[in-house]
Amino acid sequence: TETGYLSIIVLGASGDLAKKKTFPALFNLYGKGFLQSDEVHIFGYARTKISDDELRDRIRGYLPQSKEYAEDVSKFLQLIKYVTGSYDTSEGFQALDKAIAEHEISKNITEGLSRRLFYLALPPSVYPQVCKMIKSFCMNKSNLGGWTRIVVEKPFGKDLASAEEMSSQIGELFDEPQIYRIDHYLGKELVQNLLVLRFANRLFLPLWNRDNIDNVQIVFREDFGTEGRGGYFDQYGIIRDIIQNHLLQVFCLVAMEKPVSLKYEHIRDEKVKVLQSVIPIKDEEVVIGQYEGYKDDPTVPDNSNTPTFATMILRIHNERWEGVPFVLKAGKALNSRKAEIRVQFKDVPGDIFKGQKEGRNEFVIRLQPSEAMYMKLMVKQPGLEMSTAQSELDLSYTQRYQGVVIPEAYERLILDTIKGDQQHFVRRDELKAAWEIFTPLLHRIDDGEFKLITYKMGSRGPVEADELLERAGYVQTHDYIWMPPSL
Ligand code: BG6
Repeated sequence: TETGYLSIIVLGASGDLAKKKTFPALFNLYGKGFLQSDEVHIFGYARTKISDDELRDRIRGYLPQSKEYAEDVSKFLQLIKYVTGSYDTSEGFQALDKAIAEHEISKNITEGLSRRLFYLALPPSVYPQVCKMIKSFCMNKSNLGGWTRIVVEKPFGKDLASAEEMSSQIGELFDEPQIYRIDHYLGKELVQNLLVLRFANRLFLPLWNRDNIDNVQIVFREDFGTEGRGGYFDQYGIIRDIIQNHLLQVFCLVAMEKPVSLKYEHIRDEKVKVLQSVIPIKDEEVVIGQYEGYKDDPTVPDNSNTPTFATMILRIHNERWEGVPFVLKAGKALNSRKAEIRVQFKDVPGDIFKGQKEGRNEFVIRLQPSEAMYMKLMVKQPGLEMSTAQSELDLSYTQRYQGVVIPEAYERLILDTIKGDQQHFVRRDELKAAWEIFTPLLHRIDDGEFKLITYKMGSRGPVEADELLERAGYVQTHDYIWMPPSL
């Protein structure tokens, strides 16, 4: 493993993402011993003129508050130094470089490594200029070895053309192995489990195809609206905010072929391949909606046509999946909060139990909350009678892994960037393939060619979406519901 000096530089240190996600994730890594104080320093950089202590105070409120963490919290905060500067002039970045170098020198790493991780917790519009500044003034000192890496997060553009433009601007400055495009869904425990589940279980191998699977749903629901983020959200909408990235990443892992090995390039090669096999989305297989009251948000224009809900069907043109609909569905202000993958199998041919309780086999992976996997099966209803009932084989994490704390997505992903593992990051060609799927549809939606259906807050969303699901072949099981186990 690499040793030497590690500087983590959070640009946009006083912003929301940094406070809510980046610093708490760094704190967790610190608490678990992954960031040793003798070899790590954290720098915050932003325009606001504040002192080190003022930044620390702002972050403190987002770290664990209980007494048992008090010592760790104060030690962690002491690792953070603040540098102020703008995002488009050299002075600030020269000062930043000086601050980093001083710490590297104070640690006597003349023969060690200078590792510099830049986390851009910034609006994407400034990514290119900030990357330019980093490249000009803040790279690791080559005589000391080591590396410089850049972490960026969506939105990467608004469509294929704008995304490609950003990719090439950044690509002129940094090579692909230096760029870490975060999609935090790839850091979720059950998303990471997909690879193991699919390729380490004999049980699934022969079933995972068009001969046995009728339809697949990948669903994201939130039971709250845009909550103060309306200004950002309205420029993007639910397809760009959730489906084109988070749900599509999950889709890749569910549908891709087996990678040659676990090397990150092998895995990403397969993801690109399956994305390239997706055929154009049909207009009649799309439903979009907006919740009532969305436009009451003062940051949202009164005439906004931005969807807060969408259901659509992706179809893959390959030997494994021809004819199997993959339903991608995401919505805000619905009746529940959950994310899951639901694989529904075909009916049993020549079924001798016909007429009794019916229901198809389903394999469900609950990403959140109450992480679980369960398999819906028909069983004999216990008792004297020979009747059938639906039940499940249930692997619920709270029960099976009692006392195990599931790491936060960002925590895991930041650790990967330090280790140099790009498996859970989006490659440039993958991003392009993702935009190729959605861009024509998004342009038609932006041009107002789709009817935006209004739905009530706290509802299931437009009924048209359920009808589309039914047309796709999904058979809902009535009077059966899986309950997470209570301990
Ligand atoms: C973000 C979206 O990427 O993911 C938000 O911008 C959304 O709109 C969030 O609320 C959901 O993340 P999670 O981890 O809470 O499912």
